[in-house]
Amino acid sequence: MSSAFRPDALAGKTVFVAGGSSGINLGIAQSFARAGARLALISRDPERVAAAAATITGAGGTAIGMAADVRDYAAVEAALKQARDTLGPIDIVISGAAGNFLAPVVGMSANGFKTVVDIDLIGTFNVFRASFDYLNKPGASLIAITAPQGVNAMMFQAHACAAKAGINMLVKCLAMEWGPAGVRVNGISPGPIADTEGMARLAPTPEMEARYKGRLPLRDYGSKQDIADAALYLSCDNARYVTGTILDCDGGSKLGDASADALKTH
Ligand code: NAP
Ligand code: COA
Repeated sequence: MSSAFRPDALAGKTVFVAGGSSGINLGIAQSFARAGARLALISRDPERVAAAAATITGAGGTAIGMAADVRDYAAVEAALKQARDTLGPIDIVISGAAGNFLAPVVGMSANGFKTVVDIDLIGTFNVFRASFDYLNKPGASLIAITAPQGVNAMMFQAHACAAKAGINMLVKCLAMEWGPAGVRVNGISPGPIADTEGMARLAPTPEMEARYKGRLPLRDYGSKQDIADAALYLSCDNARYVTGTILDCDGGSKLGDASADALKTH
């Protein structure tokens, strides 16, 4: 039976965050740590991931940082095992590692396309598949960080659109297969989030940023805390009956162009 939300609902939980050394995913990790959870972070760069873990331990929390590339199944599994052995069975997995760049299809090599699909989609498969044996189940919650590109075609984003669409479907398939074991699997689709590498790449100039905001129904970028709050909700008991869903936390981004120009035509 779920109950009213309690701030300590996540105290003592073990949380594994893939791609946790910066941006949205680190924001999620820090929020879980403030809620009393123990964190295991992975990313490729050992120094970046150690520094990220130090932001949590420095604030009085518990965290370990491990270098692992999500494209390397054995490395991901080794990190999950180390997290389980050090912090206890894993209650919550966040799969948020990603790579992106703006490029038209004719400006993208086969390897460029494959690289993004490998990190985002195959990486999410690796993280979730390898986590199964290390989960505290029934009761575990898995969350993929997807994007509006998963449902909306976008110029110069063929690789990310294909990868995130695949992630959305992987979430639904795993929710069906793993529901009977008491494992919920969901996604969060952030819209444009302020102060992130993702938006630095997609809207690098103030003009592009203003255009992005002008098209959004809510007319502003979201914050890392907005996404962390969605992850906290999906991971606590209040979401016990929620699985296989993609939670859009995107200012209405997925709905289409709500710019003043677009509105004039109606
Ligand atoms: P970010 O700061 O660049 O975070 C990406 C993280 O993934 C970093 O920790 C990076 O660390 C890690 N990473 C990259 N490749 C990896 C690999 N092969 N193996 C393991 N770790 C890897 O980006 P962000 O903008 O916060 O985006 C985070 C997530 O939110 C992504 O899934 C992105 O698609 C999604 N998203 C972002 C926005 C936005 O507005 N920013 C909007 C929608 C969706 P290392 O470099 O150390 O590996
Ligand atoms: N335009 C076109 N192709 C590009 C590109 C760009 N801006 N950036 C990289 N590529 C291509 C490379 O040329 C290479 O293809 P090639 O071998 O045919 O030349 C391929 O992509 C792989 O590049 P490489 O640098 O070897 O990949 P990597 O695995 O070291 O890095 C990236 C992955 C390219 C996604 C890199 O940008 C990254 O590490 N990103 C993580 C951070 C991030 O993207 N954050 C935002 C998340 S939303």
